[in-house]
Amino acid sequence: MEKIHTPVLLSETLNYLNISQDGFYIDCTLGDGGHSIEILKRLSPNGKLLSIDQDQYAIGFVKEYYKEQLADNWEIANCNFSKIDTLVEKYPQKPNGILMDLGLSSRQLEHSHNRGFSYQQESEPLDMRMDTKLGVSAKDLLVVLPEKELSTLFFRYGEEKYANKIAKAIKENITNINTVGDLTRLVFRVVPAAHQSSKNPSRRVFQALRIVVNDELDSLQIGLDKSFKLLNSKGRLCVISFHSLEDRIVKNYFNNLVESGEAILLTKEIIAPTDQEVGSNPRSASAKLRVIEKI
Ligand SMILES: C[S@@+](CC[C@H](N)C(=O)[O-])C[C@H]1O[C@@H](n2cnc3c(N)ncnc32)[C@H](O)[C@@H]1O
Repeated sequence: MEKIHTPVLLSETLNYLNISQDGFYIDCTLGDGGHSIEILKRLSPNGKLLSIDQDQYAIGFVKEYYKEQLADNWEIANCNFSKIDTLVEKYPQKPNGILMDLGLSSRQLEHSHNRGFSYQQESEPLDMRMDTKLGVSAKDLLVVLPEKELSTLFFRYGEEKYANKIAKAIKENITNINTVGDLTRLVFRVVPAAHQSSKNPSRRVFQALRIVVNDELDSLQIGLDKSFKLLNSKGRLCVISFHSLEDRIVKNYFNNLVESGEAILLTKEIIAPTDQEVGSNPRSASAKLRVIEKI
């Protein structure tokens, strides 16, 4: 198995985490392990790393790929980060730094285990569950939700201008929509040509379905709050987001903590990838890093 995901804003994140070798760090979004392994390298045997991912395939990959590096001070847990508190109970010390690198990994997009995260994987079913134990797939949403609710979903979570038209067309053709390709072709038919920029017109619809299937925004809100409460004094919370809905939640949450005098904002200017990083890893283009330090 090869490593597919290139960690985004890696050196910036490591700098902001300000790792002390005996400290306790949590990577809430393990993915291909790119950030975790660099944190681990900076720890002494007394330091601790807890890495979490809700996708069992990410856990399986990292345990195999990094089998030589697995160590007593590195715990890897298959869990949603909204339940981070339950994993941390057994640790005697409070975390000095917590990282969230949100969204999907390149592995999930390219080797999805037939879950249809990417609008480019035409033959895959419309599943989109990062945690395969979740009950509702993307196709279930298309079937179960009435047209009006589907339209609201595309508008609210995809900021899709043609949400009404797309929802109507989906409900009229629902028996023929089973795969990624079925949905992307329908969106292509429905969205006026002028709206079809160089980016795939289905991307907003896919983002909206994925957010709802995985309850991403609620998990983020809960995960942020639990993470901040768990942090040690002077501990840092670093969050990398990839779209405006996530970023707004992070920004508002951080601003409230700063206003209430509970935290200091370390990223007065948002940290974004350099042109060089975007050139070598185009998927990093929309990344934004925000960091606070607990008082
Ligand atoms: C962008 S990738 C992280 C990549 C990783 N930093 C690396 O360098 O390889 C995001 C990962 O977070 C996981 N994830 C997303 N939301 C999650 C949540 N609420 N709880 C746990 N894991 C989550 C996804 O399954 C995915 O593997």
